[in-house]
Parts: sequence; structure tokens; C-alpha cells
Amino acid sequence: MTPLEEILVRRIAASGPMPFAAFMSFALYHPQHGYYTAGPARVGWRGHFLTSPELDPAFGELWADAFEQIWTACGEPNAFELIEIGPGEGAFAASVLSSVAPPFSDALSYRLVERSPALRERQRERLEVFGRVDWSASVTEVGPVEHGCVFANEVIDNLPVHLVEQHDGSLREVCVGVRDGRLTFVHLPPSNPELERYLQRCGIELPDGHRFEVGLAAESFVARVGQMFASGAAVFVDYGADADDLAQRPFGSLLAYSKKGTDERVLEDPGEKDITTHANWTAVENACRAARLQPIGPITQRRVLESLGLHALHDRFRTEYSAAVAASHGARALNALSRRQALGALADPGGLGGLQVVVATRGITDPAFAQPTKEGTG
Ligand SMILES: C[S@@+](CC[C@H](N)C(=O)[O-])C[C@H]1O[C@@H](n2cnc3c(N)ncnc32)[C@H](O)[C@@H]1O
Repeated sequence: MTPLEEILVRRIAASGPMPFAAFMSFALYHPQHGYYTAGPARVGWRGHFLTSPELDPAFGELWADAFEQIWTACGEPNAFELIEIGPGEGAFAASVLSSVAPPFSDALSYRLVERSPALRERQRERLEVFGRVDWSASVTEVGPVEHGCVFANEVIDNLPVHLVEQHDGSLREVCVGVRDGRLTFVHLPPSNPELERYLQRCGIELPDGHRFEVGLAAESFVARVGQMFASGAAVFVDYGADADDLAQRPFGSLLAYSKKGTDERVLEDPGEKDITTHANWTAVENACRAARLQPIGPITQRRVLESLGLHALHDRFRTEYSAAVAASHGARALNALSRRQALGALADPGGLGGLQVVVATRGITDPAFAQPTKEGTG
């Protein structure tokens, strides 16, 4: 039993079962034992899974161009803040800040929103060299800026969800209780009338027995993001689906990642496993509109990266590879080859390329990289 499971078992024994959202919040963000707050690297080659920015700096290099497009659409203001939420090990910030050039870079300041003190420290060590970087410990601390862009890569899928199931015409909430000293799922009446209202907002009829994730925290998150800038855009990148698609999955989309690999045993080893769900794009888009943001998408990551110049970068690595081979420079050739392969992985529809992007704008025309076509959901 992990130290966090012991704490949760004692707490539930004393106060009764808790909503899954409360459990997920403890499992990921408990100050001492939370998966993301305890301190060890979770993403990247030393962690449990690779994210796009950790795979190759090309991801940030390509996105830097998108941020410049948003800055241009804002009218090239003198001050433009890029606000990255959940920046992990800081790889994305490092690659964006390495790629931007004047006049955009003269206007740019970079804010990282990171709740783990240990991560903030590691990010500071990595990014201090760039100057113009600042931190906030919570989304509630980010003040509004006139012009800016909020970027969140694989963050919505880590926001706590409530679980519900429909049985014989009545909605039950799937909570976390204790049986024989271990954590277990228990079905109870809904803890909050908002759960039913969320289903209505998503416009779905939940099939009997299907489990559905209710992302109230994602709705509040988007609302908060909407308060961070007057004009500009928010970019959410995640695996996700429309509410209708999610409702058709009998067991929902919860998955756990750990050093043991991927599984569906989300109550096991709390604090030592990542817990993720698919983003519910219907709910995210509704929340965007409620926050006076105009959502575009979801668009597949592959398509966005292609419109940001993926193919040109691919050609550049091929040329670098050929030049390095001709010069018998093995290390340089290997580097160009592995970067080219990384580009393939970033765009692979069966992997990272299948991530989806929602761009939510306010006060600007649609940037060229965000094509207003709905594709790639489900
Ligand atoms: C899967 S990791 C992705 C890290 C990074 N964006 C990357 O792509 O490598 C998700 C991160 O989002 C962070 N996160 C989740 N909710 C957050 C919130 N409300 N505020 C700030 N960070 C949050 C988690 O702590 C975690 O570090």
C-alpha cells in the first residue's frame, strides 16, 4: 500500500466515501504524495511517458510560429505574454524561447503556471538563461494581460473528473470507498446537482450502465483561462472526443500510467500512477463560448504541425543528414536522423499526431495555423 493509499483509507473510514474527483485530485496533487507534486520527473525520458515537447524541440519550434501569428493578429503589440499551464520539465518553454526572433521576441514575456515547488525549481534552472520568464503557482494567481496566448499541452486530461452511471433511469455517482482495508468503487446518489446539469449541457442521453466522466474542473479551468487575457488565444492540446462519442464508451476513458506501463486500475497505487481521461471537447467548447472565447477545432496535432511547417523542417533534417554523411560526421548524421524520426512520431496519427488541438480566440481573426474544420475526433 502506498503512503497516500494509507492516508485515503483512514480518511474514508472516518468520513465516508469521496467523489472520484476528490480521489483523483489527491492522487495527482496531494502536496507530499501526489503523482505530480511529490517531485520526481514524470514526463520525458526519465519519467513514465513522453509528451510532444519532451520528444523533440521541433514541437516548440513549430509552435513558436503559431504564437507569432497570434501576436500579429493582435496587431503586433509591444507587450505579449505567453502563459504556459502545466509546463512539466520546461522543455516546451526552452524550445519556444530558443526559436523566437525580433521583433516578436522583443514583445514576448513567458509565464509558467506550475504548482509543484520542486518542478518550479527545475524549470527555473533550465529557463533562467532566457530572462523574461516568470512563474505563478496557480491559475488563480495569473493576472489578466492585454494581449497574450495561453498554452496547455496534455493538462485538461489531468483535471479531476466525477464519475457517473445511469442505472434503471436514475443517475448514480461512482465514488471511492473502502472494502477490506483497500480502496474500491461504490455507487451512491450524486454528490452534486451539477453532475446532472453537466450531462444536459453536453446534450447527451447516457446509455444504461455506461460510465461517464464529468469534467466540472475542466469547465472551471477554461473559465479561468478566459480571464487571463483581453485579446489573443488559448490553445488546448489533448487526446479527446466529443461528448456523444465519450457517452458510447461503456467504461469511460480513464487510464493510468506508471513505471509498470498503462492500465485501467486507477485506484491502485495512488500517488505512483498518472490518471488521465479524454478531454470532453463538447464541454470545453461550451465553456469557451461561456468565457467569450471563440473555439476552433478540434484539429489533429498532425494537421496543425503540418500547417506550421513540419514538412520544411523534415526536409531540413534530411539535408543535414546527407551533408553529415558526406562529411563522414557520424554524430551529426545520427542526430539529424533521430530528429527526423521524432518529427514522424509527432505527426503519427496512431500516436502523438492523434492528439487534438482546440484554439479559442478573442478579439482576433482566425490565425492561419488553425483551420476551421472539424476532423479527427473520436
Ligand atoms: C501530462 S503533464 C504535461 C506536462 C507538459 N505540458 C508536457 O507536455 O510535457 C500535465 C501537467 O499539468 C499539470 N497541471 C494539471 N492541472 C494543473 C493546473 N490546474 N495548474 C497548473 N498545472 C496543472 C500537472 O501538474 C502536470 O505537470
